[in-house]
Order: sequence, then structure tokens, then C-alpha cells
Amino acid sequence: MKPETNKKMNKQKLNLLILEDNPDDAELIIKELKKEGFVLEWKRVETEKAFKKALAEKPDIILSDYNLPSFNGMAAIKLQQQTAPDIPLIIMSGTIGEDIAVECVKAGATDYVLKDKISRLGTVIKRAIKEAEELRKRKQAEKKLQKYVKEQKVLLKEVNHRVKNNLAAIIGFLYLKEAKTKNKEILTFINELIIRINGLSTVHSMLSESNWRPLNLNKLCDNIINASLIGLPNSNMIDIYVSPSSIQISSNQAHSLTLVMNELITNSMKYGQNSNNKINLNVDIKKNKKNIIITYRDNGQGYPQSLTDGDFSDIGIGFELIKGIVTQSLKGDMQIFNDNGAATVIKFKPET
Ligand SMILES: Nc1ncnc2c1ncn2[C@@H]1O[C@H](COP(=O)(O)OP(=O)(O)O)[C@@H](O)[C@H]1O
Ligand SMILES: [Mg+2]
Repeated sequence: MKPETNKKMNKQKLNLLILEDNPDDAELIIKELKKEGFVLEWKRVETEKAFKKALAEKPDIILSDYNLPSFNGMAAIKLQQQTAPDIPLIIMSGTIGEDIAVECVKAGATDYVLKDKISRLGTVIKRAIKEAEELRKRKQAEKKLQKYVKEQKVLLKEVNHRVKNNLAAIIGFLYLKEAKTKNKEILTFINELIIRINGLSTVHSMLSESNWRPLNLNKLCDNIINASLIGLPNSNMIDIYVSPSSIQISSNQAHSLTLVMNELITNSMKYGQNSNNKINLNVDIKKNKKNIIITYRDNGQGYPQSLTDGDFSDIGIGFELIKGIVTQSLKGDMQIFNDNGAATVIKFKPET
């Protein structure tokens, strides 16, 4: 294709604002751009006031002379940056040197064209318009993304709130049922269920507050024990000690560990009282190169010998749950022994 035909096919519409005191120079610009095939709507201004007004009409592009009798290119750039930074501004001058041109670009001009190189203008304008369009699209996409993130945050907050409320409602139903139940076995079942749900609600609250980032293990254990004790008649007879540590645990492992801790705590409530009816709970948290090691103890009667000998054939749901979670979810292992009460050691690799 010949260049002539090519130019004729370029029917790009352009709404042009020319800041120029010399009408002849403006005419030259128009002539050149028409030659390049642009379909033009244009306006020439030469004062600050007129420039401001024309800027508000949102032209596609601004061509600005550098030296004007009552205004100048640099001030025009500043004004454009403040009020219409999306509209590309090209400095056109017959006189400026390279250093001033660079200053103009630094201040926010898209490009500059020397008047004796006016044949470059078409190409420079096309590139500036294309870049401005890309920038506009990018800004639009960014805005959309920000809006989406904001919406998701609200949604997450709402879901967290609902989960918490629903768990609280379930606990409420269980308390109602508990008050009407006489059967001891069912009472124990309801009580244990309340403790399990309280534990889940506690870890959910902690995780939603931390935005599902890892939790401090020490604080998690402390909160779960305290949540399990809510509503227990003999909670003043319970002493709790959780060893201080700064070890963190992932949200996933925090959930698993909560279920395990719940079972250990309910068992201590049932079997862990000493002869004074007091319960001492002690949680020791350590970490070596590979594993997190949690030692949980009470000061009650201790585990039955069959259990410490490794016979798990006669266990209830509690130990089934503990074993399943420790080995499958936490991919760790568990040991039990007696030492002035029941002691349970849980070892697992921390998730990164
Ligand atoms: N902290 C403990 N102290 C003494 N014995 C315990 C303790 N925890 C569990 N046990 C013994 O292990 C058995 C299995 O516990 P578990 O599976 O939780 O069932 P459940 O709590 O329903 O009895 C209990 O019946 C009890 O004999
Ligand atoms: Mg149990």
C-alpha cells in the first residue's frame, strides 16, 4: 500500500486544543494533521482563562506552545496536571532546547515536537492518544478491582458474622434442650456438643479477626480452654496454665487443633478432678526443628492402664476424634502417659 492511500484511510477523529498565540503556526499544525488524515475539530486559545475554559470541555489532546505573551507552556502543563491529567499534552515550540523539553516531560507533558520537525506531529499524536487510552483502561480496571476487593471485604465480614450468629443460635438451642433433659447420658452428650461448638466458634472468631492469617498458638489454647469452661458450674475449681510461646499456627491447623483440645478438655472435666475436686490444666507448647509439640496434662486419676498400654479398642468418640484428627488432618502423632494425672503429647509439622 502506498503511503498516500494509507494516510487517507486514517480517518481518526480528533478534538484538538491548541494553546498558541500565533494563528499562522496554528494553521500550519492543522494543515499538517489534515494531511495525516485526521478529521479535526479544533480550538485555538492563548490566555490562561481561555485555556482553563477549553480544558473543561475535555479535548482529546492539547498542543501547547512554550512561550506565549501572557502565559507559558510550563504553567499550562501544571494546570493540565491538576485539572485534566488524563488528556495528553504535547509541547510545540520553535525555540526550546532539549533540557527544557525534558523538564516539560518530567512535569507531565506527554511529548514535545519542535516546530521545524512538524512532520513528526501525526505520529506523536497517535502514540499519545493510544497511550492515554491504555492508561484510561488500566485506571478503569484498577478502579473495578478496588471496588471488587471492597465488596469482598464486606461479604466476608457478613459471612463471618452469620457463621458466628448461627453457631451461637445452635448453642442456644442446646442450652434449652439441656434444661429440659434429665437423662444423664444425653446431658453429657449435649454438654460436650456445646463445648465443641464453643471451640469452633472461638477459633472462627480469632481467625476472622486475623483475616485467616496464622494465630498465636498460646493464645489459641488459652481461648479454647476458656471457651470450654463457659457455663460450667465448677469453673472456679479449675486452674489453667498455658506456657508462654510465640509459636504461630496456620488457620487450617488451628481448626484441627481446636477440635483435639476440646476433646482433651471435656475429658479432663469428666475424669481429671483430683481428690479435692480441683482440676489443674497445664498446656506446654514447644517447637523443635521439625515439629510443634504440645503436652496437655490434668491432675486427675490418669488414663486407664489399658489405654496407656496402647489398647484403644474401648474408646469413645472423643479419642476416635483426637486420633483421627492428629494422624490424618495434622499428619502428626500422639502419645499418652500418666504422670500425676493424664498427659497427652501431640506432635505435628507446622504448615507454612
Ligand atoms: N483426662 C482423662 N483422665 C482419665 N481418663 C481419661 C481421661 N480422658 C479420657 N480418659 C479415659 O479414656 C476413655 C475414652 O475417652 P473418650 O474417647 O473421650 O470417651 P468418653 O469421654 O466418652 O468417655 C474415657 O472413658 C476415660 O476412661
Ligand atoms: Mg471424651
